[in-house]
Formats: sequence, C-alpha cells, structure tokens
Amino acid sequence: MTNHATPARSSAELIRVEEATLAHNYHPLPVVVARAEGAWVEDVEGRRYLDMLAGYSALNFGHRHPALVEAAHRQLDRLTLTSRAFHNDRLAGFAEGLAELTGLDMTLPMNTGAEAVESAIKVARRWAYRVRGVPEERATIVVAEGNFHGRTTTIVGFSDDPDARDGFGPFTPGFRTVPYNDLAALEAAVDHTTAAVLIEPIQGEAGVVIPDDGYLAGVRELTSRAGVLCIADEIQSGLGRTGTTLAVEHEGVLPDLLLLGKALGGGIVPVSAVVGRRDVLSVLTPGSHGSTFGGNPLAAAVGTAVLDLLRTGTYQRRATELGRVLDAGLASLVGAGVLAYRCRGLWAGVDIDPAIGTGRAIGERLLHDGVLVKDTHGSTIRLAPPLTITEDELTAAVESLAKALR
Ligand SMILES: Cc1ncc(COP(=O)(O)O)c(C=O)c1O
Repeated sequence: MTNHATPARSSAELIRVEEATLAHNYHPLPVVVARAEGAWVEDVEGRRYLDMLAGYSALNFGHRHPALVEAAHRQLDRLTLTSRAFHNDRLAGFAEGLAELTGLDMTLPMNTGAEAVESAIKVARRWAYRVRGVPEERATIVVAEGNFHGRTTTIVGFSDDPDARDGFGPFTPGFRTVPYNDLAALEAAVDHTTAAVLIEPIQGEAGVVIPDDGYLAGVRELTSRAGVLCIADEIQSGLGRTGTTLAVEHEGVLPDLLLLGKALGGGIVPVSAVVGRRDVLSVLTPGSHGSTFGGNPLAAAVGTAVLDLLRTGTYQRRATELGRVLDAGLASLVGAGVLAYRCRGLWAGVDIDPAIGTGRAIGERLLHDGVLVKDTHGSTIRLAPPLTITEDELTAAVESLAKALR
C-alpha cells in the first residue's frame, strides 16, 4: 500500500507556507508548536519551551489538563452539537455552575470573548430603552481609554489603538471614552442617555494596568447610584488569574453583567458567557439574539469541568502564592533592564528599558532560551503563565528574563 501520509515539515518550511497562505493579522514569534502538556510546549523539531503566555490566559489550567481533556473526550463520544433549536443535557448544569460561582442569576452562552462583549452591548442597550427609559436610539455606553474588548467593528470603534481601528470605519456610534482609573471623569460622562459602564477590572492588553485601590468599588457605587449597568469584562482577568476567581473580588464588587471567555473553554474549545442579573438578561426574548454554537454540549461539558477546577480554590491559591514569587523576581529586575512592572496574582506587565530592546526583541531572546512570552505595545511584555506552573519553573523563567536583559 502506498503511504499517503504527509512527510513532516520543518518549522522553517511551515512558517514559509503560513506567510504565503495566511492573512498577516498576527506577527507570531518564530516557533511552531506541535505538542504541549502542562506549562510546556514542544516545537516540530522537539525543542521544549516554557509557556509564559498561556494563550493570553485561555490556558489558565495548563495545556491539556487531564480533567478537562477527559471531560472533552467523554462528551465527544456522546453528543457535540444540537444548536439552541433544541435543549441539550449539559447546558443547564453549566449555567447552574456559573450562577453558583459568580453569585449572578443567568447566563447567555456565546463562543468568543468579542461575542460576549457584543452581546452585553446589545443587552445593555435594550435594557436602557425598555427598563431605564433612555430615549430610543440615544443609548450610550461609557468605556475606558486603553481598553481592549476584542476585534469586531463595533468594539474596535471604541478602541483608541490606531492599529486596531485604522481603516475599519465607519464605526458604531453610542460610546463615550473616559480616562481609565478616573472616577471623576466617569461620573461626568454618565447622564440620562447612559446604559452602562463597560470596564476591564485590570487592563490586560494595555500592559496589565491595575487601577488604584477603590476604583472598581467606586465604579460600582457610581453606576448603582446613577441607575446604570456595571459591566465587568473579565475575559482575561477572570477565572483564577489574579488570585481570586474574579478580579472584581479584590474590591468586593459584583457587577450587573460579567463577561467571561478564554479560560472558560479550558484551552480546548472557545467558550464565552455573559453572566448577569435576571432582570437585566431578561430583556432578551426568543429571536432577539443567538449563536449556532453558543451553549453547545461540548462547550458546556468542558466549561463545567473548568468550574469544577475553580470550585476547589487550588488555582486561585496558586496564583496568589506564586504571584508573590513572580512579584519578588520582577522587583529584583527593576533598574536591571526593567523600568517598571505591575503584577497581580500570576499576571504581570513588564516595561523593558527601551535602551535594551523592544518587547519583541526580548521575546526573541527568551524564545532562544526556551521561554515563550509576547510583547504588548512596544516595550512592554506580558507574563501570564499557566496557574499550574511550579515555583521552580517560574523562578527559571524570571532568571531567563534577567539573562535576556543583560
Ligand atoms: C479583556 C478582553 N476582552 C475581550 C477579548 C476578546 O476575546 P476574543 O479574542 O476571544 O474575542 C479579549 C482578548 O484578548 C480581552 O482580553
């Protein structure tokens, strides 16, 4: 019999083919990953790398966590997709679990983070017209400078990052931008047209920008007082990353709508959700919103297994404890190639001295040393390892960073 299996291709060749056949909307580091387990990935040639990005926090539980892989396998053997035209036997348990974990009532299941954000915008607008009494077509949503909420035309329309916006207009009206971490500016922007304030509790893409203590509680107080919705985008900050299940917990805040994604799919399938108050999500009626894949049984099974992992508290605890190790390691690099850093749990934005190199250049040096990181905005790199990383691995990664800065 003829063997029709494609011969293995080298990393260099695969990168050449990608260059020719894929849209250039990313500028990946030159590594072609073929296998992974836990905090480690392996490239086509068998070289191993410590993953200090974890799929932008989609891999909070590491690559191929056994409990998540098992949940996926079990579900693959039983039922994968029904569409919401019918019920499936996994969705109810997933929604119950989300309500229990968050303290909110109901879930609108979607797939990607951007879809969750889009869905929340629709819910907030309808709620504004039907419940708050905002004049038709006048609803506004207040957002923060430096925000990152995804890539759809509506969402990039209220981004202030030229790379994300340029050439994609005209944009959806109805958004007001205020400086992040500025309660007075937020208060001034809220008026009788406001439907909601949409905020990242920590701005990940902007470089892990952590607001002052009291800011999130202030946003909650202000939105409650004004009678507008508080929407927390925890797609990157949530699900254990910062040492608590949700980053808003650091200030005891419960938003009206909570946006989850990334790690909710366990690094296996795209799963996102708008979790919210019953009286808010109840503005959606049959036909007003939907998604063929949202809430599919495979997503719900994996999502439920993710919630089971979070319920143990192990990952939140690890993020807190190892976060101290990361924080101390980064503190020792300030003045030695690092200008400043921000760290909460196992999540850090590190500003590299531009005299030493761009974030990209440091990322390439780390790659050669077997550590994967990604730059964000010029000279900042973001560290977000799997929460399953060991202390020794984390320490080794910080030592590699120190070496890359020399
Ligand atoms: C805070 C935040 N919101 C939304 C998104 C968009 O998620 P997705 O890429 O799954 O659409 C991201 C992605 O990085 C994010 O960090």
